[in-house]
Amino acid sequence: MKATAIAHTNIALIKYWGKRDENLILPANSSLSITLDKFYTETSVEWMEDAKNDLFSLNGQIKQDAKVAQFLKILRAELDIPYFAKIDSVNHVPTAAGLASSASAFAALAVAGSAALGRQDDLANLSRLARRGSGSAARSLFGGLSIWEKGSRLDGLDSYAVPFNSPLTEKMAVVVAVVSDAEKAVSSRDGMKSTVLTSPFFHEWIQTAEEDLRNIKSAFLSGKFVEVGEILEHNAMKMHATTLGAKPPFTYFSPASLTVMDEVRKLRDEGIPAYFTMDAGPNVKIICLRENEKMVSSRMQKLVKDVYICHAGEGAKVIQVD
Ligand code: DP6
Repeated sequence: MKATAIAHTNIALIKYWGKRDENLILPANSSLSITLDKFYTETSVEWMEDAKNDLFSLNGQIKQDAKVAQFLKILRAELDIPYFAKIDSVNHVPTAAGLASSASAFAALAVAGSAALGRQDDLANLSRLARRGSGSAARSLFGGLSIWEKGSRLDGLDSYAVPFNSPLTEKMAVVVAVVSDAEKAVSSRDGMKSTVLTSPFFHEWIQTAEEDLRNIKSAFLSGKFVEVGEILEHNAMKMHATTLGAKPPFTYFSPASLTVMDEVRKLRDEGIPAYFTMDAGPNVKIICLRENEKMVSSRMQKLVKDVYICHAGEGAKVIQVD
């Protein structure tokens, strides 16, 4: 009853920001992401017939983690088993990258937890399951580009991710400019909750995010990178604008994030198509073509301490069943 799985992190190009159901983790809008090759989580789950508690270790250290504890309850209910589990999780994310992600963590946990019972769940089912741990985890089941459909059912059965193909997937690079590895002041969970409840910009965000998704899909299908870049950058800035309207207002931008954004704009002025996006932290991810990745990376290295060049990564998979 033991299995090990890996899942890679993903970066949203059309952001998930706001829930329509907190408990089931159902999003207010659909989102689109690219799974990264460099950063992943490896997790083994062993369901133990005799154990009296769950035991979770992260990077070799025993941890109490409320989100993991809650997710294990959900896993037991969904997989219909009474057992507690021993979980060993290792984050293969450079320690200073500040990118440790709940997306790869919950995707790996869902896949390993199900495989440990010898089940052969389909990917849609695993994506739905991973979503219950952290919304963005629904997308980490898939390699390359992935779309998490918000769905409309109250029970969330139609809210899961699907893969999305584009001639651009293998041509793109994501250059991660690490501005800070400090713990986030406002978690994405709290930040989006406060935005939904208090930001007057939230309604417009949701309206325009759906339009952005339609437009980026068609730009991806026809291989128009500049259009893709313009849409993803605008989408990220609109998401971040909602936080300034929240009460109390907050932002994930740091002065260094703004400096990196300026440099990306300069690159564009010089004719290099490069576009930025940011999540619930100050690090900036620059989306460019592989042919320009070294140039973009070297410009970023002048501004920040750590820079990583990533490409499209693989979907989640089981690597061992004992
Ligand atoms: C800004 O998936 O971490 O990265 O569902 O509450 O666990 P919870 O939130 P999470 O939020 C991710 C927010 C984001 C945008 C995105 O990845 O789409």
